Amino acid sequence: MLEVKEVTKEYGDRITALSNVSFELEKGEMAFLTGASGAGKSTLLRLIFREEFPTSGEISLGPYNLAELPKSKIPDLRRHLGYVFQDFRLISERTAFENVALPLEVAGKALRYIRKRVDEAMKQVGVWQRRNSYPRQLSGGEAQRVALARAIANEPLLLLADEPTGNLDMKNSRDLFELFCKLNLQGATVIVATHQVAMASEFGKRILHLEDGILKQDKK
Ligand SMILES: Nc1ncnc2c1ncn2[C@@H]1O[C@H](COP(=O)(O)OP(=O)(O)O)[C@@H](O)[C@H]1O
Ligand SMILES: [Mg+2]
Repeated sequence: MLEVKEVTKEYGDRITALSNVSFELEKGEMAFLTGASGAGKSTLLRLIFREEFPTSGEISLGPYNLAELPKSKIPDLRRHLGYVFQDFRLISERTAFENVALPLEVAGKALRYIRKRVDEAMKQVGVWQRRNSYPRQLSGGEAQRVALARAIANEPLLLLADEPTGNLDMKNSRDLFELFCKLNLQGATVIVATHQVAMASEFGKRILHLEDGILKQDKK
């Protein structure tokens, strides 16, 4: 489903953010992408999201070979990706429900379908009761679960999360990781980047461990 082949990413001639990284992720598989701050986790996710290009190597995702993907097709690719950020990135003037609905509206889905999918996604992550709340009325854990509902509402090929627990306490972090695992059991293909190496290893999922841009460990 996702193939990362000998990917190197350099910034200028001094920084090698990723060095010859290769792995494959099957449909329905989940991996934690671990490593200390600066190890290259965000860089790898940005390459998959096609925000940047590798210096060398190739990435393909389902039917998309990212190197050959014309600019005009990038929005199409991104509609097939769900993305969760450390800082939630909810729109403060919109209710939780409206936040989750937004990508579906942008994709031009029918109103009835949007209502159904938003309800389903919010129930799946346990924030349906909070649907009429505004982001400022939500706890950090709730806000991140709303962001997660938004990421899965369009049933993405691949769900990517970059330090999704970075603004959460230990209890909420564990609960959120648990939730990613639950979504994976229900069929989602998932990559969660985190510097919380010890906590990530509690869940029995595959661990892709980066050190200074090198994939040091791939443990299934
Ligand atoms: N846009 C950029 N320009 C220059 N250096 C960058 C840029 N993005 C990341 N880096 C460098 O690449 C390395 C990996 O960074 P990053 O992928 O953000 O690591 P992580 O997400 O694991 O903390 C770091 O040394 C970082 O300083
Ligand atoms: Mg990062």
